[in-house]
Amino acid sequence: MYMSFARITAAEAAALIKNGDNIGLSGFTPAGTPKATTAEIAKIAHAEHEADRPYQIGIFTGASTGLSCDGVLAQEDAIKYRAPYTTNSIFRGKVNEGKIAYNDIHLSQMAQELRYGFLGDVDWAILEVCAIEDDGKVYLTAAGGIAPTVARLAKKGIILELNSFHSAKSIGIHDVYEPKDPPLREPIMITKVTDRIGTTYLQLDPKKIVGVVECNIPDEARAFKDADPVTDKIGENVANFLMAEHKRGIIPESFLPFQSGVGTTANAILGALGSNPDMPAFEVYTEVLQNAIVDLMYKGRVKCASTCSLSVTNDKLLDIYDNMDFFKDKLVIRPSEISNSPEVVRRLGLIAINTAIEVDIYGHANSTQICGTKMMNGIGGSGDFERNAFLSIFTCSSVAKGGCISAIVPFCSHIDHTEHDVKVIVTEQGVADLRGKSPIERAKTIIENCAHPDYKQFLWDYLKISQKGHSCHNLAATHAFHDTFIKEGDMRKVDFSKYTL
Ligand code: COA
Repeated sequence: MYMSFARITAAEAAALIKNGDNIGLSGFTPAGTPKATTAEIAKIAHAEHEADRPYQIGIFTGASTGLSCDGVLAQEDAIKYRAPYTTNSIFRGKVNEGKIAYNDIHLSQMAQELRYGFLGDVDWAILEVCAIEDDGKVYLTAAGGIAPTVARLAKKGIILELNSFHSAKSIGIHDVYEPKDPPLREPIMITKVTDRIGTTYLQLDPKKIVGVVECNIPDEARAFKDADPVTDKIGENVANFLMAEHKRGIIPESFLPFQSGVGTTANAILGALGSNPDMPAFEVYTEVLQNAIVDLMYKGRVKCASTCSLSVTNDKLLDIYDNMDFFKDKLVIRPSEISNSPEVVRRLGLIAINTAIEVDIYGHANSTQICGTKMMNGIGGSGDFERNAFLSIFTCSSVAKGGCISAIVPFCSHIDHTEHDVKVIVTEQGVADLRGKSPIERAKTIIENCAHPDYKQFLWDYLKISQKGHSCHNLAATHAFHDTFIKEGDMRKVDFSKYTL
């Protein structure tokens, strides 16, 4: 138990943060993110704005946060700058109104871009912890994120939120490691999913700790939609494809570790893999661990998992803390630049499975922007994993919004992952294996196997009106699907006869 640091209230902590300051937070998803101080900062912003005084801050995180950070601060127009990823709907609205400067970067790069000085100063670090020692050792809660970096860089001080919702029984679950910067960077010596290269604690400079906010606040666990026949079919298609690759010896006998994105589809895919009797027990090396993996660990279907966060429901989180004897040699939480490290992803040979908003007939994928302009969430870790995986898979439903939108389009309205990185596309309609194919071969296999029947002929028609070349396009019509949706509310009203070669 700590004696040396001042106990302060969340309001006192928030009062330290001045207009124009940049705060760096622990956490990754709402898991492990401090919640008490940011909620009080929002109250200060409200009062300042009422008094007609400016109050806005910059926020650096590992990934998304919850309502008590991005939500309430966006609501109060208190965010001037934010990086790297969010999922909050209030924040999304303000970004799309042009009110927040949002820098959507790969999650593996966030800590190093702060260290390199690309993003400005970190004034304050606010960390959620479950235990504090007098010499400045702290134990993080449900996520690794960018905590080591923001704590080290914080110029004005470190605020600790000692959240008793998180049990100190979890001590030992973290592997805290911060790489050196070039030209001194060394190899990240992880060769197996559960290898440990760091410490179970984060060593802070005790002189920088300005106070401890004691609180008891549950994690703001996100609820996902229930699986439905479409997500179940996507899960089944992915599982069947991978089993066939395993059978023909492309995937090694012992299988390879999985990274799987967040959300309903990801849960359905893992469920389908876990329940397939031909699938050997597998390993997981990911950024976000969801409930499905925990259940599969108990069943012995997932042997071990490395993650950046425990993005599970609160009952599941407490269950993990209560069963640390079972999990201690099977589960490790890492900082995001290690969980998402391109070097480690490539070395371990991950099978990466992430969801796209749309993909095009050549295999580019859009993970972030609706109709090329409206931010959904951000790229998250999808680029870190997909670019470097052994096998890069994107999944999506073939249509959205009741069929008015085709997720298979002639050309993506925004590209996060290029044709050079995407190896397999899976919808509920089927699987397009793009490996080794030329652009036009990719187009044919994507239209044939992944497009919804309502849109197949439109996509063939697009190819007919396209200029022949390495990739075939009609530049005036590349975004005719999107343009038709914006103007007429239904991509099926597209009319390619208007376009000539
Ligand atoms: N055009 C317009 N809207 C679309 C669309 C398209 N092509 N495809 C999906 N949508 C809409 C859906 O209708 C839904 O809208 P709603 O919220 O109004 O219901 C919304 O986008 C989310 O789609 P959903 O089918 O529920 O997908 P999801 O929850 O699986 O999320 C992403 C999909 C792409 C938004 C999500 O995976 C993401 O943010 N990815 C980027 C980050 C990432 O991949 N991280 C990696 C590892 S965690």
